[in-house]
Amino acid sequence: MSELASEAMEAEFDTVAGWTEEAVRALGPDHAVPAGCRGSGSEGALRWLADRLELRPGSRVLDAGAGVGGPAAWLAAERGIRPVCAEPMVAAVRASRRLFGLRSVVAMGQQLPLADASFDAAVCLGVLDTTPDKAGALAELRRVLTHGARLGLLVFVADGPLPSAAPEGNEFPSEAETRDLLAAAGFEVAGSAEADLSDSPPEWTRAADAVDAEVARRHGEDPAFRQAEENSGRVGRLLSDGALRPWLAVATAC
Ligand SMILES: C[S@@+](CC[C@H](N)C(=O)[O-])C[C@H]1O[C@@H](n2cnc3c(N)ncnc32)[C@H](O)[C@@H]1O
Repeated sequence: MSELASEAMEAEFDTVAGWTEEAVRALGPDHAVPAGCRGSGSEGALRWLADRLELRPGSRVLDAGAGVGGPAAWLAAERGIRPVCAEPMVAAVRASRRLFGLRSVVAMGQQLPLADASFDAAVCLGVLDTTPDKAGALAELRRVLTHGARLGLLVFVADGPLPSAAPEGNEFPSEAETRDLLAAAGFEVAGSAEADLSDSPPEWTRAADAVDAEVARRHGEDPAFRQAEENSGRVGRLLSDGALRPWLAVATAC
């Protein structure tokens, strides 16, 4: 198994991914996409990005750090493409294959087992914050994209010191640092916006909440559950007091 920066992150992104799959199976397939978006958060954010990726029928699209695969499955259903997913956590990769039939590979973003210039677009959602080697991950994304391809990003940015504890293993860049990293990797930012993570339709939010409740009912006493809850709670607090901003960007590979 690939190793993430902390045990808490592995609890959140591996163990909870497997539990999410289990809960979706119990509650029904209409819960899968909302529950499978763990970081991209809202349908509005996905739509904002998808509208700017210049997708065409047959576009080759990569989701790097795809998690359980909700965003890739949403793109497949909404835009008629067949994304490829890369994700380091085995349980998440398994869930993305079994819940959505996605083509998913176990891989760290900075070591993609994919050919040069083999994708026309990519997304990387909520991943750079969890990756100490941000430059390495962006360099790999640039390598696998064709010239002129679009990269869609969601990055939780912190423009000043954090007033409360960061989730274990997370390193939040500022917007300026993220822009510099993108430029250094060979990307030009074509557009950016602040995401509104609460703009999903009510049925989407209800489904995601129901899956969370089912996971808590089944595994609430497990130390991995508490660790993952603590980590995601820290992100929630930082977002609600404005120390973190969900920053959406689309950049062109040049
Ligand atoms: C907040 S989740 C977002 C998952 C998914 N992109 C989404 O929006 O639902 C962050 C994901 O990044 C993955 N990740 C962490 N470090 C990574 C790295 N170095 N390369 C690729 N993925 C990584 C985690 O395993 C986790 O699935």
